[in-house]
Amino acid sequence: MSESRISLTRYLIEQQRVHGVITPQLRLLLEVVARACKRIAIAVGKGALGGVLGSAGTENVQGEVQKKLDVIANEVLIEANEWGGHLAAMASEELDGIHPIPNRYPQGEYLLLFDPLDGSSNIDCNVSIGTIFSVLKRLHDDPAVIEPVSEADFLQPGRQQVAAGYCIYGPQTTLVLTVGNGVAMFTLDREQGAWVLTQDQVRIPEDTREFAINMSNWRHWAAPVRRYIEECLAGAEGPRGKDFNMRWIASMVADVHRILTRGGVFLYPWDKREPNKPGKLRLMYEANPMGWIVEQAGGAATDGRRRILDIEPKGLHDRVAVILGSKNEVERVTRYHLEAD
Ligand code: AHG
Ligand code: MN
Ligand code: MN
Ligand code: MN
Repeated sequence: MSESRISLTRYLIEQQRVHGVITPQLRLLLEVVARACKRIAIAVGKGALGGVLGSAGTENVQGEVQKKLDVIANEVLIEANEWGGHLAAMASEELDGIHPIPNRYPQGEYLLLFDPLDGSSNIDCNVSIGTIFSVLKRLHDDPAVIEPVSEADFLQPGRQQVAAGYCIYGPQTTLVLTVGNGVAMFTLDREQGAWVLTQDQVRIPEDTREFAINMSNWRHWAAPVRRYIEECLAGAEGPRGKDFNMRWIASMVADVHRILTRGGVFLYPWDKREPNKPGKLRLMYEANPMGWIVEQAGGAATDGRRRILDIEPKGLHDRVAVILGSKNEVERVTRYHLEAD
């Protein structure tokens, strides 16, 4: 390989030194998260040989049966990030409450949130899965008084994220990251164990002919979502005047990764099976980090009415409807919602 390869370490140092968008603490924290993702990638890759497939037989706070890899990935992330001194606490899809850094370790300023294993239903059938993460900075009303960290520290809107990313465990293992200076992709060189920058300033085309939605829920959707999908399905003869293709991987990381690669729109809307839940996906572990990544790549992300990143969270495990991807399509779906109100 050529010697001009840019490693994750060099990329992060340049973000700190040249662009001034990250602190040394945040840089080191992101290195630890990336290292944990490497460990998860190794566990994922072993599959049946490593005894990592199947159910763990336990249920998480979301009411989902945990897979072994949900639990393993969660443990890897916690263990890797506990002792570094960069964090005040962590929160995870797989934990009921926050995980403060134990007193035996130094405390840092940052808060790390993660979906340790995204796409759990795809683990056993060898389809791409991933890890999603988000970093917030702890805010203090009075810097002189340091209160014990609490859930309230985490309840910040997504626009206050200081870093967000995901790692996709697919045919290639790819880490996708934003620190507010565009979106960069790093491919894992498996022989060297190194993250190599393979694309910087990723851009999502503003228009698309591809949508991603779980069509089996058609009968449960609200009118604006039906209207949008109906028009896509009508193809060249319909009001859109063009044919649409459909993809649904059922791993948000994989659907978002495709959208970053070639455009598209992703929808996981509210549906009437659970009318009191705003949506299925989690605001803090899924919608916020993906929403910021998509915006940083020139796309858009809303819940049908509001920008995802402006939503004020009420609880760690809040759910939300998600529409994200190519800007003009997201704006169209959002307009259909607002027109119907
Ligand atoms: P997780 O595996 O972290 O619980 O998340 C699964 C999510 C998301 O990745 C995906 O887009 C969606 O659930 C798929 O849902 P359906 O099975 O309802 O299509
Ligand atoms: Mn889950
Ligand atoms: Mn998920
Ligand atoms: Mn998950």
